[in-house]
Amino acid sequence: MEMRCRGPRRPSWFEGTPIRLQDHVVLITGGASGIGLATVERCLREGTRVDLADLAGSAGMAEAARLDALYPGRCVFVPVDVTSTEQVDAMVETTVSTFGRLDGVFNNAGIGGICPADSSPDADFLRIIDINLNGVFRVARAALGPMYAQGRAASSTAPPSWGCSVRAARPPTRRARAGW
Ligand SMILES: NC(=O)c1ccc[n+]([C@@H]2O[C@H](COP(=O)([O-])OP(=O)(O)OC[C@H]3O[C@@H](n4cnc5c(N)ncnc54)[C@H](O)[C@@H]3O)[C@@H](O)[C@H]2O)c1
Repeated sequence: MEMRCRGPRRPSWFEGTPIRLQDHVVLITGGASGIGLATVERCLREGTRVDLADLAGSAGMAEAARLDALYPGRCVFVPVDVTSTEQVDAMVETTVSTFGRLDGVFNNAGIGGICPADSSPDADFLRIIDINLNGVFRVARAALGPMYAQGRAASSTAPPSWGCSVRAARPPTRRARAGW
């Protein structure tokens, strides 16, 4: 069998490319806690202006106020439920009107947990889909227009759609399997 030497691996186009966030405007959904909040803080350290958007009103407002005190004029809170097209559209409009532009979006809002496929009602599963999947679409649709108009767009999605396991509540016992 012929073996071919493919030579050294070529680096991807983005490897080694410094990410410049200074003075950019970034919208982060689910920014009140966890990965979203950590990303908000990192962006602020890099010199970004951040719209921290979240369903959790009091936590989001408190975190944005704390961070805006550390980075004056660079962090605002916008309440949003990503299951609402109206709220998502208003969130993007608020970001653009507050900071004058929008350069990037971290589509991070989502819920995890377990949705047992053998016992969950439609409403539970559809709620997860509406937040983790449809919500990502709503935010992207609202944000891409202003970003394209500027000629520059960057978007990242925390894979929330996969953050929820859909599986049987209890694996079948050996005896049950034998009876199938
Ligand atoms: N932590 C993990 O191991 C993991 C793994 C896979 C995927 N994810 C996904 O990454 C994202 C962040 O995870 P995390 O661990 O930081 O979660 P987290 O629960 O700490 O943060 C999620 C944030 O999203 C907000 N949110 C929930 N529903 C919302 C809605 N309808 N509208 C607006 N905001 C809403 C919550 O209020 C919360 O602040 C989530 O989408 C999660 O599903 C996380």
